[in-house]
Amino acid sequence: MQSTTDSFEDLRKDFPVLNRRVRDDKKLVYFDNAATTQKPNQVIDAISDYYQNHNSNIHRAVHALAEESTEAFEDTRDIVAKFLNIEDSREIIFVRGTTEGINLVAYAWGRDNVNEGDIIVTTEYEHHSNIVPWQLLTQEKKAQLKYIDIDDNGELMLDQLDDYLSTGKVKLVTFSHMSNVLGTISPVKEIVSKCKNAGVKVLIDAAQSVPHMKVNLNEIGCDFFVFSGHKMLGPTGVGVLWAKKEILEKMSPFLGGGDMIREVHKYETTWNDLPYKFEAGTPNIADVIGFAEAIKYLEKIGMENIRKHELELTKYALEEMKKIPGITLYGTKEPEKRGGVVSFNFNSVHPHDVGTLIDKEGVAIRSGHHCAQVLMEKLNVAATNRASFYIYNTKEEVDVLIASLQNVAKVFKL
Ligand code: ALA
Repeated sequence: MQSTTDSFEDLRKDFPVLNRRVRDDKKLVYFDNAATTQKPNQVIDAISDYYQNHNSNIHRAVHALAEESTEAFEDTRDIVAKFLNIEDSREIIFVRGTTEGINLVAYAWGRDNVNEGDIIVTTEYEHHSNIVPWQLLTQEKKAQLKYIDIDDNGELMLDQLDDYLSTGKVKLVTFSHMSNVLGTISPVKEIVSKCKNAGVKVLIDAAQSVPHMKVNLNEIGCDFFVFSGHKMLGPTGVGVLWAKKEILEKMSPFLGGGDMIREVHKYETTWNDLPYKFEAGTPNIADVIGFAEAIKYLEKIGMENIRKHELELTKYALEEMKKIPGITLYGTKEPEKRGGVVSFNFNSVHPHDVGTLIDKEGVAIRSGHHCAQVLMEKLNVAATNRASFYIYNTKEEVDVLIASLQNVAKVFKL
């Protein structure tokens, strides 16, 4: 598929919700993709087919439905591994989402490896899910949580990482591959290489990157990698934690219960093999199977094409938005350094008022702190507006956004 607005527009027919009219019969313009993306028929149908024709628990019984369900669930693990260029699919752990993946690492790895005086390094543009679990861990262990600050361009000040690493106390550096507010793409290679030279583990929160660009985990060289299915056309409640087999094998389990055990006796238990050791209880079978269809859909388009398409929309949006009176745009001015996320504010207009006004035109954006209050403090605002793009968005939709924002400027006499 070519990266042209036309060919991407053809995809829209696969997404029933994009036909919605909202408010006063306005055509829906969905620009809240960083929060969650819409789902194509292929994903919706796979979930429905599972419940209509195959529903059964997995990894347990030997009957026909159990075998079909187990096979489809485990096929998804292989599809995810191939998508990330991972050789051993036992390193893929299904979790509920990025938040659960990070918490799993903080509890299961963190509690065994982080001690008094140790340092965990994160950044100022993290989502709460990559801050709070580390606050809980460092408080419990009397360890320290340190931040890499961002500069005026919204980029990480990496010399601070050098300073932290030089203390010899850092146990983990954890950062988002792409900021959910600024869209900044982190210099992954540089960060991982600095950490590897210092013998420090690295976790990448890839919730905002995996859906939008080609990721080759074999090349990145990090230790932990987490993302969510629902931000990449898949259902909610499915996410992935990847870690190297050697690390996962040494880690204690996170949740105890069925399927994660080999043998349970009155006072002791032995653990199941990977990945099951970390997948206690009945998993989200239907949605994991639906997630496979989401990945197949994205692969058919090609992740490089998706990146190109979003870059075109982002460049166009930034160009047009900066002409609107009273607007402040956040993040780097260089579109190549960012993903399809544009955060902005109007002088003296509360973001919720902006969101409400443009919602009347059918335009859905997110207004709020975006679960990134540390970043909001840095930007010295309580909230921002955020438009975020995906494969089915068009240049014409960006025009509708621009017109609705021009109207905001007019209403507030900016
Ligand atoms: N993490 C999601 C967002 O950025 C919910 O909107």
